[in-house]
Amino acid sequence: MSLKLKSGFEFDYENLVGEGRVTRDDVEQLAPQLGKAHKAMDTMRKTGVIKAHLSKDGTPEKVLFSQLPYVEKGNLNSPESIDRLKKFGQSMRNRIDTVISLGIGGSFLGNKVLFDVQCGSFWNMKTREERDGYPRVFFSGNNIDPRSTKDLIDYINHAADMAMHHDKKNPHKYKVMLICISKSGGTLDTMSNFMVIYDALMNNPNVEVEVTAVTDPNTEKPTLLKKMAMENKWESFAVPDGVGGRFTIFCEVGLVLGAAVGFDIEAFLAGAKQMDIDCQNDDIWQNPAMLNAALKFIASEKYGRSEEVMMPYGDYLESVSMWYIQLLAESLGKQFNKEGKEVCYGRTPIVALGTRDMHSQTQQHQEGRLNKIVQFIRIEKWTNDLTIPNVFPQAHKLADIAGVTMGQALEVARQSNADALASNGRFNALFSLPELNAYYLGQLLYMLALSVAYEGELADVDAFNQPGVEAYKRIMGPKLQQVKSRG
Ligand code: PA5
Repeated sequence: MSLKLKSGFEFDYENLVGEGRVTRDDVEQLAPQLGKAHKAMDTMRKTGVIKAHLSKDGTPEKVLFSQLPYVEKGNLNSPESIDRLKKFGQSMRNRIDTVISLGIGGSFLGNKVLFDVQCGSFWNMKTREERDGYPRVFFSGNNIDPRSTKDLIDYINHAADMAMHHDKKNPHKYKVMLICISKSGGTLDTMSNFMVIYDALMNNPNVEVEVTAVTDPNTEKPTLLKKMAMENKWESFAVPDGVGGRFTIFCEVGLVLGAAVGFDIEAFLAGAKQMDIDCQNDDIWQNPAMLNAALKFIASEKYGRSEEVMMPYGDYLESVSMWYIQLLAESLGKQFNKEGKEVCYGRTPIVALGTRDMHSQTQQHQEGRLNKIVQFIRIEKWTNDLTIPNVFPQAHKLADIAGVTMGQALEVARQSNADALASNGRFNALFSLPELNAYYLGQLLYMLALSVAYEGELADVDAFNQPGVEAYKRIMGPKLQQVKSRG
Protein backbone atom coordinates (compact mmCIF):
# COMPACT_ATOMS: atom_id res chain seq x y z
CA MET A 1 0.00 0.00 0.00
CA SER A 2 1.52 3.25 -1.03
CA LEU A 3 0.88 6.70 -2.42
CA LYS A 4 3.12 7.48 -5.34
CA LEU A 5 3.19 10.98 -6.79
CA LYS A 6 3.84 11.74 -10.45
CA SER A 7 7.35 12.92 -9.54
CA GLY A 8 8.15 9.43 -8.25
CA PHE A 9 8.09 10.44 -4.56
CA GLU A 10 6.40 7.64 -2.65
CA PHE A 11 4.87 7.21 0.81
CA ASP A 12 4.65 3.50 1.57
CA TYR A 13 2.32 2.90 4.53
CA GLU A 14 1.97 -0.87 4.17
CA ASN A 15 3.36 -1.42 7.68
CA LEU A 16 1.30 1.34 9.27
CA VAL A 17 -2.19 0.56 7.97
CA GLY A 18 -4.13 -2.71 8.20
CA GLU A 19 -4.95 -5.53 10.58
CA GLY A 20 -3.31 -4.85 13.97
CA ARG A 21 -2.27 -1.39 12.85
CA VAL A 22 -4.11 1.83 12.08
CA THR A 23 -7.25 0.75 10.23
CA ARG A 24 -9.02 2.38 7.32
CA ASP A 25 -11.98 2.64 9.65
CA ASP A 26 -9.89 4.75 12.04
CA VAL A 27 -9.11 7.07 9.16
CA GLU A 28 -12.79 7.22 8.10
CA GLN A 29 -13.78 8.20 11.62
CA LEU A 30 -11.36 11.09 11.51
CA ALA A 31 -12.97 12.48 8.34
CA PRO A 32 -14.67 15.52 9.96
CA GLN A 33 -11.44 16.67 11.70
CA LEU A 34 -9.46 16.00 8.53
CA GLY A 35 -11.89 18.12 6.53
CA LYS A 36 -11.41 20.98 8.99
CA ALA A 37 -7.63 20.60 8.99
CA HIS A 38 -7.58 20.62 5.21
CA LYS A 39 -9.62 23.82 5.17
CA ALA A 40 -7.28 25.35 7.75
CA MET A 41 -4.34 24.60 5.43
CA ASP A 42 -6.16 26.26 2.58
CA THR A 43 -6.79 29.37 4.70
CA MET A 44 -3.14 29.38 5.79
CA ARG A 45 -2.03 29.29 2.16
CA LYS A 46 -4.36 32.08 1.11
CA THR A 47 -4.17 34.41 4.13
CA GLY A 48 -1.38 33.22 6.42
CA VAL A 49 -3.93 32.88 9.21
CA ILE A 50 -3.85 29.88 11.55
CA LYS A 51 -6.52 29.90 14.22
CA ALA A 52 -5.25 30.91 17.68
CA HIS A 53 -1.63 31.23 16.63
CA LEU A 54 0.14 33.93 18.61
CA SER A 55 3.71 35.13 18.45
CA LYS A 56 6.11 35.02 21.41
CA ASP A 57 4.86 38.41 22.61
CA GLY A 58 1.23 37.24 22.55
CA THR A 59 0.08 39.05 19.41
CA PRO A 60 -1.52 37.37 16.37
CA GLU A 61 1.12 36.39 13.83
CA LYS A 62 0.88 35.13 10.28
CA VAL A 63 2.22 31.74 9.24
CA LEU A 64 3.90 32.11 5.88
CA PHE A 65 6.05 29.05 5.29
CA SER A 66 3.61 27.70 2.68
CA GLN A 67 4.30 30.78 0.54
CA LEU A 68 8.03 30.11 0.35
CA PRO A 69 8.04 27.57 -2.52
CA TYR A 70 6.26 30.08 -4.75
CA VAL A 71 8.92 32.30 -6.31
CA GLU A 72 6.76 35.20 -7.39
CA LYS A 73 6.91 38.96 -7.46
CA GLY A 74 5.88 40.34 -4.06
CA ASN A 75 6.40 37.01 -2.28
CA LEU A 76 9.03 36.29 0.36
CA ASN A 77 10.96 34.41 -2.33
CA SER A 78 10.76 36.47 -5.52
CA PRO A 79 12.64 36.25 -8.83
CA GLU A 80 14.73 39.22 -7.63
CA SER A 81 15.58 37.67 -4.27
CA ILE A 82 16.57 34.37 -5.89
CA ASP A 83 18.67 36.25 -8.40
CA ARG A 84 20.42 38.08 -5.57
CA LEU A 85 21.11 34.80 -3.79
CA LYS A 86 22.57 33.29 -6.93
CA LYS A 87 24.82 36.32 -7.38
CA PHE A 88 25.88 36.02 -3.75
CA GLY A 89 26.80 32.36 -4.38
CA GLN A 90 28.74 33.23 -7.53
CA SER A 91 30.59 36.00 -5.69
CA MET A 92 32.03 33.37 -3.35
CA ARG A 93 33.64 31.34 -6.08
CA ASN A 94 37.42 31.58 -6.34
CA ARG A 95 37.33 34.47 -3.88
CA ILE A 96 36.31 33.26 -0.43
CA ASP A 97 38.47 30.49 1.02
CA THR A 98 36.21 29.51 3.90
CA VAL A 99 32.68 30.19 5.07
CA ILE A 100 31.80 29.84 8.73
CA SER A 101 28.04 29.54 9.11
CA LEU A 102 27.03 30.58 12.62
CA GLY A 103 23.59 29.75 13.95
CA ILE A 104 21.62 27.35 16.12
CA GLY A 105 18.26 25.57 15.99
CA GLY A 106 16.30 26.82 13.00
CA SER A 107 19.27 28.95 12.03
CA PHE A 108 21.50 25.90 11.69
CA LEU A 109 19.71 22.59 11.16
CA GLY A 110 18.31 23.24 7.68
CA ASN A 111 21.62 24.67 6.48
CA LYS A 112 23.41 21.54 7.64
CA VAL A 113 20.94 19.44 5.61
CA LEU A 114 21.61 21.44 2.44
CA PHE A 115 25.34 21.31 3.00
CA ASP A 116 25.40 17.56 3.65
CA VAL A 117 23.26 16.69 0.64
CA GLN A 118 25.21 18.97 -1.67
CA CYS A 119 28.73 18.50 -0.35
CA GLY A 120 28.97 15.34 1.78
CA SER A 121 31.58 14.73 4.45
CA PHE A 122 34.75 15.24 2.43
CA TRP A 123 34.07 18.66 0.93
CA ASN A 124 36.59 20.52 3.05
CA MET A 125 39.33 18.07 2.09
CA LYS A 126 38.83 18.72 -1.62
CA THR A 127 40.85 21.21 -3.63
CA ARG A 128 39.27 24.46 -4.77
CA GLU A 129 39.02 23.06 -8.32
CA GLU A 130 37.25 19.95 -7.04
CA ARG A 131 34.86 22.28 -5.20
CA ASP A 132 34.24 24.16 -8.44
CA GLY A 133 35.63 27.29 -6.84
CA TYR A 134 33.17 27.25 -3.93
CA PRO A 135 34.52 27.80 -0.40
CA ARG A 136 35.14 25.35 2.39
CA VAL A 137 32.34 25.44 4.96
CA PHE A 138 32.38 25.07 8.74
CA PHE A 139 29.48 25.36 11.15
CA SER A 140 29.72 27.10 14.48
CA GLY A 141 27.38 28.67 17.01
CA ASN A 142 25.35 25.50 17.45
CA ASN A 143 26.96 24.98 20.82
CA ILE A 144 29.01 27.01 23.32
CA ASP A 145 31.92 24.62 23.36
CA PRO A 146 35.29 26.32 23.91
CA ARG A 147 37.26 23.36 22.59
CA SER A 148 35.61 23.09 19.17
CA THR A 149 35.58 26.86 18.71
CA LYS A 150 39.30 27.04 19.52
CA ASP A 151 40.00 24.15 17.15
CA LEU A 152 38.21 26.00 14.37
CA ILE A 153 40.16 29.21 15.02
CA ASP A 154 43.43 27.27 15.11
CA TYR A 155 42.56 25.59 11.83
CA ILE A 156 41.82 28.93 10.12
CA ASN A 157 44.98 30.53 11.51
CA HIS A 158 47.04 27.62 10.23
CA ALA A 159 45.36 27.73 6.81
CA ALA A 160 45.98 31.50 6.66
CA ASP A 161 49.65 31.01 7.48
CA MET A 162 49.90 28.43 4.69
CA ALA A 163 48.11 30.72 2.21
CA MET A 164 50.36 33.67 2.99
CA HIS A 165 53.72 32.03 3.45
CA HIS A 166 53.65 28.65 1.75
CA ASP A 167 51.48 29.09 -1.33
CA LYS A 168 54.29 29.73 -3.81
CA LYS A 169 52.05 30.32 -6.82
CA ASN A 170 49.58 32.65 -5.18
CA PRO A 171 50.51 33.94 -1.72
CA HIS A 172 47.38 35.64 -0.42
CA LYS A 173 45.42 36.74 2.60
CA TYR A 174 43.04 34.00 3.65
CA LYS A 175 39.48 35.18 3.05
CA VAL A 176 36.85 34.12 5.55
CA MET A 177 33.16 34.87 5.27
CA LEU A 178 31.27 34.73 8.56
CA ILE A 179 27.59 34.16 7.85
CA CYS A 180 25.94 35.07 11.13
CA ILE A 181 22.35 33.84 11.27
CA SER A 182 19.96 34.81 14.03
CA LYS A 183 16.35 35.83 13.67
CA SER A 184 16.30 37.50 17.09
CA GLY A 185 19.80 38.81 16.46
CA GLY A 186 21.14 38.10 19.92
CA THR A 187 21.09 34.37 20.65
CA LEU A 188 23.82 33.56 23.18
CA ASP A 189 25.12 30.42 21.46
CA THR A 190 25.44 32.10 18.07
CA MET A 191 26.67 35.49 19.19
CA SER A 192 29.24 34.26 21.70
CA ASN A 193 30.90 32.19 18.97
CA PHE A 194 30.58 35.05 16.51
CA MET A 195 32.36 37.44 18.86
CA VAL A 196 35.11 34.99 19.77
CA ILE A 197 35.80 34.00 16.15
CA TYR A 198 35.47 37.53 14.76
CA ASP A 199 37.88 38.90 17.33
CA ALA A 200 40.44 36.13 16.79
CA LEU A 201 40.39 36.39 13.00
CA MET A 202 40.40 40.18 12.90
CA ASN A 203 43.59 40.04 14.94
CA ASN A 204 45.32 37.84 12.41
CA PRO A 205 47.02 39.98 9.73
CA ASN A 206 46.94 37.01 7.32
CA VAL A 207 43.14 36.83 7.41
CA GLU A 208 40.59 39.04 5.71
CA VAL A 209 37.14 38.82 7.30
CA GLU A 210 33.81 39.54 5.63
CA VAL A 211 30.50 39.29 7.45
CA THR A 212 27.05 38.53 6.12
CA ALA A 213 24.15 38.93 8.54
CA VAL A 214 20.93 36.94 8.23
CA THR A 215 18.34 38.31 10.62
CA ASP A 216 14.95 39.98 11.00
CA PRO A 217 14.98 42.63 8.26
CA ASN A 218 13.01 45.24 10.21
CA THR A 219 15.05 48.46 10.11
CA GLU A 220 12.79 50.55 12.35
CA LYS A 221 13.13 48.23 15.31
CA PRO A 222 16.34 46.48 14.27
CA THR A 223 17.69 43.41 16.00
CA LEU A 224 21.15 43.78 17.47
CA LEU A 225 22.58 41.91 14.51
CA LYS A 226 20.68 44.07 12.03
CA LYS A 227 21.96 47.18 13.77
CA MET A 228 25.52 45.91 13.56
CA ALA A 229 25.02 45.03 9.90
CA MET A 230 23.76 48.54 9.13
CA GLU A 231 26.56 50.21 11.08
CA ASN A 232 29.30 48.07 9.55
CA LYS A 233 27.75 47.89 6.07
CA TRP A 234 27.67 44.10 6.14
CA GLU A 235 25.62 42.45 3.44
CA SER A 236 22.39 41.17 4.93
CA PHE A 237 19.63 38.70 4.15
CA ALA A 238 16.27 38.20 5.80
CA VAL A 239 14.65 35.83 8.25
CA PRO A 240 11.16 37.02 7.40
CA ASP A 241 8.33 37.55 9.83
CA GLY A 242 5.93 34.64 9.88
CA VAL A 243 8.58 32.01 9.18
CA GLY A 244 9.50 30.07 12.33
CA GLY A 245 13.00 28.66 12.74
CA ARG A 246 12.03 25.12 11.75
CA PHE A 247 10.71 26.31 8.39
CA THR A 248 13.57 28.64 7.45
CA ILE A 249 15.32 26.13 5.21
CA PHE A 250 12.97 27.37 2.46
CA CYS A 251 13.85 31.07 2.96
CA GLU A 252 17.09 33.04 2.81
CA VAL A 253 18.45 31.33 5.94
CA GLY A 254 18.86 28.03 4.15
CA LEU A 255 19.17 29.42 0.65
CA VAL A 256 22.15 31.68 1.49
CA LEU A 257 24.19 28.68 2.55
CA GLY A 258 22.85 26.64 -0.36
CA ALA A 259 23.92 29.34 -2.80
CA ALA A 260 27.37 29.50 -1.19
CA VAL A 261 28.07 25.87 -2.15
CA GLY A 262 26.33 25.74 -5.54
CA PHE A 263 23.20 23.92 -4.34
CA ASP A 264 20.35 24.16 -6.86
CA ILE A 265 18.04 26.38 -4.81
CA GLU A 266 15.53 26.75 -7.64
CA ALA A 267 15.10 22.99 -8.06
CA PHE A 268 14.75 22.70 -4.28
CA LEU A 269 11.91 25.24 -4.20
CA ALA A 270 10.34 23.71 -7.32
CA GLY A 271 10.19 20.33 -5.55
CA ALA A 272 8.58 21.97 -2.52
CA LYS A 273 6.09 23.79 -4.75
CA GLN A 274 5.01 20.64 -6.56
CA MET A 275 4.55 18.97 -3.19
CA ASP A 276 2.39 21.86 -2.01
CA ILE A 277 0.27 21.54 -5.15
CA ASP A 278 -0.09 17.78 -4.68
CA CYS A 279 -1.08 18.34 -1.06
CA GLN A 280 -4.02 20.51 -2.08
CA ASN A 281 -5.83 17.30 -3.00
CA ASP A 282 -8.76 16.78 -0.63
CA ASP A 283 -8.66 13.00 -1.07
CA ILE A 284 -6.61 11.92 1.91
CA TRP A 285 -5.28 8.82 0.11
CA GLN A 286 -3.80 11.08 -2.56
CA ASN A 287 -2.41 13.76 -0.24
CA PRO A 288 0.86 12.65 1.40
CA ALA A 289 1.03 15.39 4.05
CA MET A 290 -2.56 14.88 5.17
CA LEU A 291 -2.24 11.09 5.10
CA ASN A 292 1.04 11.07 7.02
CA ALA A 293 -0.41 13.46 9.63
CA ALA A 294 -3.59 11.41 10.04
CA LEU A 295 -1.81 8.08 10.37
CA LYS A 296 0.74 9.40 12.87
CA PHE A 297 -1.99 11.19 14.85
CA ILE A 298 -4.10 8.03 15.07
CA ALA A 299 -1.05 5.90 15.86
CA SER A 300 -0.24 8.28 18.73
CA GLU A 301 -3.70 8.84 20.12
CA LYS A 302 -5.32 5.44 19.66
CA TYR A 303 -2.36 3.06 19.68
CA GLY A 304 -0.01 4.80 22.12
CA ARG A 305 2.82 5.34 19.63
CA SER A 306 4.36 8.28 21.47
CA GLU A 307 7.86 8.12 19.96
CA GLU A 308 8.88 8.60 16.36
CA VAL A 309 12.19 7.30 15.12
CA MET A 310 13.32 9.09 11.96
CA MET A 311 15.68 6.67 10.25
CA PRO A 312 17.02 7.60 6.84
CA TYR A 313 19.27 5.13 5.06
CA GLY A 314 22.42 6.91 3.88
CA ASP A 315 25.09 8.86 5.77
CA TYR A 316 24.43 12.26 4.30
CA LEU A 317 20.79 12.11 5.35
CA GLU A 318 21.41 11.98 9.07
CA SER A 319 21.04 15.74 9.26
CA VAL A 320 17.56 15.40 7.73
CA SER A 321 16.70 13.38 10.79
CA MET A 322 18.16 16.06 13.07
CA TRP A 323 16.22 18.74 11.22
CA TYR A 324 13.04 16.69 11.64
CA ILE A 325 13.63 16.36 15.37
CA GLN A 326 13.25 20.11 15.76
CA LEU A 327 10.27 20.22 13.41
CA LEU A 328 8.36 17.54 15.29
CA ALA A 329 9.40 18.52 18.82
CA GLU A 330 8.80 22.25 18.56
CA SER A 331 5.65 21.99 16.46
CA LEU A 332 3.73 19.30 18.28
CA GLY A 333 5.23 18.97 21.77
CA LYS A 334 2.66 21.16 23.51
CA GLN A 335 1.25 21.19 27.03
CA PHE A 336 -1.93 23.08 26.20
CA ASN A 337 -4.31 22.96 23.27
CA LYS A 338 -5.69 26.01 21.50
CA GLU A 339 -8.48 26.30 24.11
CA GLY A 340 -5.98 26.32 26.96
CA LYS A 341 -6.78 22.78 28.12
CA GLU A 342 -3.84 20.70 29.28
CA VAL A 343 -3.19 17.96 26.69
CA CYS A 344 0.59 17.32 26.80
CA TYR A 345 0.59 16.29 23.15
CA GLY A 346 3.40 15.19 20.84
CA ARG A 347 5.73 12.33 20.01
CA THR A 348 9.31 12.21 21.21
CA PRO A 349 11.47 12.32 18.11
CA ILE A 350 14.53 10.10 17.88
CA VAL A 351 17.44 10.37 15.44
CA ALA A 352 18.51 7.09 13.87
CA LEU A 353 20.51 6.20 10.81
CA GLY A 354 20.43 3.07 8.67
CA THR A 355 22.31 0.83 8.61
CA ARG A 356 24.41 2.18 11.50
CA ASP A 357 21.75 2.09 14.18
CA MET A 358 20.44 -1.32 13.21
CA HIS A 359 23.47 -2.47 15.16
CA SER A 360 22.40 -0.53 18.24
CA GLN A 361 18.91 0.98 18.49
CA THR A 362 17.06 -1.67 16.51
CA GLN A 363 16.96 -4.06 19.50
CA GLN A 364 14.82 -1.48 21.28
CA HIS A 365 12.67 -0.79 18.19
CA GLN A 366 12.08 -4.51 17.67
CA GLU A 367 11.43 -5.66 21.22
CA GLY A 368 11.24 -2.67 23.52
CA ARG A 369 8.21 -0.71 24.67
CA LEU A 370 5.46 -0.83 22.06
CA ASN A 371 5.33 2.93 21.70
CA LYS A 372 7.25 3.73 18.52
CA ILE A 373 6.73 4.47 14.88
CA VAL A 374 9.86 3.93 12.84
CA GLN A 375 9.89 6.25 9.84
CA PHE A 376 12.32 5.23 7.12
CA ILE A 377 13.70 7.32 4.25
CA ARG A 378 15.33 5.65 1.30
CA ILE A 379 16.99 6.72 -1.94
CA GLU A 380 15.95 4.46 -4.80
CA LYS A 381 18.86 5.08 -7.13
CA TRP A 382 22.28 6.13 -5.89
CA THR A 383 24.47 8.03 -8.31
CA ASN A 384 27.86 6.36 -8.67
CA ASP A 385 26.70 3.22 -6.88
CA LEU A 386 29.53 0.78 -6.14
CA THR A 387 29.47 -2.93 -6.85
CA ILE A 388 30.95 -5.11 -4.13
CA PRO A 389 33.82 -6.96 -5.89
CA ASN A 390 34.70 -10.61 -5.53
CA VAL A 391 38.17 -9.94 -4.13
CA PHE A 392 38.34 -12.88 -1.73
CA PRO A 393 36.68 -15.78 -3.64
CA GLN A 394 37.99 -18.31 -1.08
CA ALA A 395 36.01 -16.60 1.68
CA HIS A 396 32.54 -17.94 0.87
CA LYS A 397 30.68 -15.58 3.17
CA LEU A 398 32.26 -12.62 1.40
CA ALA A 399 31.95 -14.15 -2.08
CA ASP A 400 28.19 -14.51 -1.43
CA ILE A 401 27.72 -10.74 -1.22
CA ALA A 402 29.96 -9.94 -4.18
CA GLY A 403 28.23 -8.68 -7.33
CA VAL A 404 25.60 -6.78 -5.39
CA THR A 405 25.80 -2.98 -5.37
CA MET A 406 26.13 -1.14 -2.06
CA GLY A 407 22.87 0.65 -2.86
CA GLN A 408 21.12 -2.70 -3.29
CA ALA A 409 22.61 -4.04 -0.07
CA LEU A 410 21.51 -0.88 1.77
CA GLU A 411 17.95 -1.34 0.58
CA VAL A 412 17.92 -5.05 1.43
CA ALA A 413 19.02 -4.11 4.95
CA ARG A 414 16.24 -1.51 5.23
CA GLN A 415 13.56 -3.84 3.90
CA SER A 416 14.67 -6.58 6.25
CA ASN A 417 14.46 -4.18 9.16
CA ALA A 418 10.98 -3.05 8.07
CA ASP A 419 9.76 -6.65 7.63
CA ALA A 420 11.16 -7.74 10.99
CA LEU A 421 9.53 -4.79 12.76
CA ALA A 422 6.19 -5.40 11.03
CA SER A 423 6.28 -9.10 11.90
CA ASN A 424 6.34 -8.13 15.58
CA GLY A 425 3.55 -5.55 15.50
CA ARG A 426 5.93 -2.59 15.22
CA PHE A 427 4.55 0.33 13.22
CA ASN A 428 6.79 1.60 10.44
CA ALA A 429 6.51 3.54 7.18
CA LEU A 430 8.68 4.69 4.33
CA PHE A 431 9.31 7.85 2.35
CA SER A 432 11.04 6.93 -0.88
CA LEU A 433 12.95 9.39 -3.08
CA PRO A 434 13.84 8.37 -6.64
CA GLU A 435 17.24 10.08 -6.27
CA LEU A 436 19.05 12.25 -3.78
CA ASN A 437 18.86 15.68 -5.38
CA ALA A 438 17.63 19.18 -4.61
CA TYR A 439 14.19 18.61 -6.14
CA TYR A 440 13.33 15.49 -4.15
CA LEU A 441 14.84 16.94 -1.00
CA GLY A 442 12.50 19.92 -1.41
CA GLN A 443 9.58 17.52 -1.84
CA LEU A 444 10.41 15.51 1.26
CA LEU A 445 11.11 18.40 3.62
CA TYR A 446 8.12 20.43 2.53
CA MET A 447 5.83 17.41 2.92
CA LEU A 448 7.11 16.93 6.47
CA ALA A 449 6.62 20.62 7.29
CA LEU A 450 3.06 20.59 5.96
CA SER A 451 2.36 17.33 7.74
CA VAL A 452 3.10 18.80 11.17
CA ALA A 453 0.86 21.74 10.26
CA TYR A 454 -1.98 19.29 9.54
CA GLU A 455 -1.28 17.36 12.71
CA GLY A 456 -1.34 20.56 14.76
CA GLU A 457 -4.91 21.07 13.56
CA LEU A 458 -5.87 17.44 14.27
CA ALA A 459 -4.45 17.63 17.79
CA ASP A 460 -5.79 21.18 18.21
CA VAL A 461 -2.40 22.54 19.25
CA ASP A 462 -0.55 25.56 17.89
CA ALA A 463 2.12 24.01 15.66
CA PHE A 464 3.83 27.35 15.12
CA ASN A 465 4.85 28.54 18.58
CA GLN A 466 7.44 27.15 21.00
CA PRO A 467 6.65 28.56 24.46
CA GLY A 468 8.51 25.68 26.12
CA VAL A 469 11.93 26.92 25.04
CA GLU A 470 11.41 30.19 26.91
CA ALA A 471 11.41 28.50 30.32
CA TYR A 472 15.15 27.77 30.49
CA LYS A 473 15.96 31.10 28.85
CA ARG A 474 14.27 32.94 31.75
CA ILE A 475 16.55 31.09 34.16
CA MET A 476 19.71 31.29 32.05
CA GLY A 477 19.82 35.10 31.58
CA PRO A 478 20.05 36.02 35.28
CA LYS A 479 22.40 33.09 35.96
CA LEU A 480 24.85 34.40 33.35
CA GLN A 481 24.73 37.86 34.91
CA GLN A 482 25.54 36.32 38.32
CA VAL A 483 28.56 34.58 36.79
CA LYS A 484 29.69 37.82 35.18
CA SER A 485 29.36 39.82 38.39
CA ARG A 486 31.35 37.18 40.31
CA GLY A 487 34.07 37.69 37.69
O1 PA5 B 1 12.83 27.39 16.11
C1 PA5 B 1 13.33 28.32 16.70
O2 PA5 B 1 12.78 29.40 16.75
C2 PA5 B 1 14.67 28.16 17.36
O3 PA5 B 1 15.26 26.94 17.12
C3 PA5 B 1 15.60 29.23 16.84
O4 PA5 B 1 15.81 29.04 15.48
C4 PA5 B 1 16.91 29.23 17.59
O5 PA5 B 1 16.68 29.38 18.97
C5 PA5 B 1 17.82 30.33 17.11
O6 PA5 B 1 17.18 31.54 17.24
P1 PA5 B 1 17.68 32.79 16.46
O7 PA5 B 1 17.56 32.52 15.00
O8 PA5 B 1 16.80 33.92 16.92
O9 PA5 B 1 19.12 33.00 16.86
